[in-house]
Amino acid sequence: MRIDVVTVFPEYLAPLDLSLIGRARERGLLDLNVHDLRRWTHDVHHSVDGAPAGGGAGMVMKPQPWGECLDELVPEDGEARPRLLVTSPAGRPFTQALARELAAEPWLMFACGRYEGIDQRVVDHAAERMEVTEVSIGDYVLFGGEVAVLAIVEAVSRLLPGVLGNAASLDDESHNAGLLEAPAYTRPAEWRGREVPPVLLSGDHGKVDRWRRDQALLRTARARPDLLARLEAGSLDQRDRRL
Ligand code: ADE
Repeated sequence: MRIDVVTVFPEYLAPLDLSLIGRARERGLLDLNVHDLRRWTHDVHHSVDGAPAGGGAGMVMKPQPWGECLDELVPEDGEARPRLLVTSPAGRPFTQALARELAAEPWLMFACGRYEGIDQRVVDHAAERMEVTEVSIGDYVLFGGEVAVLAIVEAVSRLLPGVLGNAASLDDESHNAGLLEAPAYTRPAEWRGREVPPVLLSGDHGKVDRWRRDQALLRTARARPDLLARLEAGSLDQRDRRL
């Protein structure tokens, strides 16, 4: 997969060199490029923002650098077009389902908004040439989209074939079946007077699976009742319903 990130703070994306994403890049599974938006400015101050039309607080990112940047990175005569993701608290909520959708794309491009966002005409113009999705990582406001891009790139790249050592761990993790994952334990069997639940040491895989399912349901009911309410009735078995 190819990923391009356009930002006024390229240093913010430095963590994408680390850990499993760094390894995926080294192994050629991820072709990730970070671009400084100021490369497409022409004034001595490399300015990228202006006062909002209609007045109000904050600054809005100017259309000119974004327009030239997208023209260069996505040439009119080029065959491939990226899916453009514009980070914004006003965007579509980012979920595991959207991560799966994005993981199937060959090319993603991220436009990191700063300040009060990007002039809307950039988004509208780009949408005539490529698929554009405004995306939010949650109902809170960050200074800019860089942290959102870190979260989205991490969630998407771990779904790419070959990136995760053990693909089985993708199967039963939180948010896959609409439930949160059961709590996890490791050795020692007793620590500070607290024991690993004995069923996990029983060697009975059927019982372990049932215990994990019960715990997932209880945890979801406590922390995310909204998720439980959305579960389809058909996905619950008789024992689930008794809980
Ligand atoms: N930029 C500022 N806040 C954001 C959020 N919650 N999600 C995505 N981009 C943002």
